[in-house]
Amino acid sequence: MANLDHLIAASQADFSACEDMPALENAKAKYLGKTGLLTEALKGLGKLSAEERPAAGAAINVVKQAIEAALNARREAILNAVQAKQLAQESIDVTLPARAQSQGGLHPVTLTLQRIETLFHSIGFEVATGPEIETDFYNFTALNIPENHPARAMHDTFYVDDANVLRTHTSPVQIHYMENKEPPLKIIAPGRVYRVDSDATHSPMFHQVEGLWVDENVSFANLKGVVQDFLQKFFERDDLTVRFRPSFFPFTEPSAEMDMSWNGGWLEIGGCGMVHPEVFKHVNIDSEKYRGFAFGLGVERLAMLRYGVNDLRHFFNNDLRFLQQFNK
Ligand code: DAH
Repeated sequence: MANLDHLIAASQADFSACEDMPALENAKAKYLGKTGLLTEALKGLGKLSAEERPAAGAAINVVKQAIEAALNARREAILNAVQAKQLAQESIDVTLPARAQSQGGLHPVTLTLQRIETLFHSIGFEVATGPEIETDFYNFTALNIPENHPARAMHDTFYVDDANVLRTHTSPVQIHYMENKEPPLKIIAPGRVYRVDSDATHSPMFHQVEGLWVDENVSFANLKGVVQDFLQKFFERDDLTVRFRPSFFPFTEPSAEMDMSWNGGWLEIGGCGMVHPEVFKHVNIDSEKYRGFAFGLGVERLAMLRYGVNDLRHFFNNDLRFLQQFNK
């Protein structure tokens, strides 16, 4: 039988020339495949005599092992190279300049609410919240606005169903709070309210801040002091004053509308009054012992004045050119 040793060197040369796995598979087939050179040699064993066969078989095996060793070595080298190339491509260059992230900001109404909360907190008011879907009882009845009362027509109400409404004001938070706590009570209740109304100065959703202070000797004078002090700090104007115009709200008696001095004139900024005894009755607070004042302010109104915004709708259009002016 012919000497096959030359196949070792030939296969090594072929394998070394392969740069990737498909090429190596082809080269492998040339020697070890079904019709490969070595396989053909093995088939030739059958033609040999029984005496010759063992030695010839052993010789072929030595060659086969050498070819397989060369194949495995090359396979490992190729896989290592592939991996090294991949790692090189995936590497991160930490010296590259960073990509700029655009900075987000808080909405001007949120900024205004935060400012309001901070200022009231500094004089001892806590923040209370309530649901935006209210029962008829909390939004109206408990606030001394019984069914068929004409005051209900002042609120263009979104009805969820017969018994529930989107709250038309933050005043119902007063009721929730007084139901659960004993006086003295000193809270503000900021939040969203809803009315069927939409134009340059009205939005179907807007924000109010309710204020409530209940204690044994709370008076209208306290109300005036708290509101004026708040507005002076909010607008950073020590000379700002407030005035009260007699008005009507079912849940306060007496009631007033509040104006503040602004550029030589007066601007209406909310309603207020002394908590009506009927309201105290609904929440089991003794109106002989306790008195309280309440007020409601429009948040967008304060934001528009503070930031010089002339159309309420800017707050809700989500135009980035508007909103980005408040990123600070
Ligand atoms: N709830 C009233 C409104 O939305 C505002 C208001 C007026 C609130 C007088 C009060 C108040 O607490 O005493 O129109």
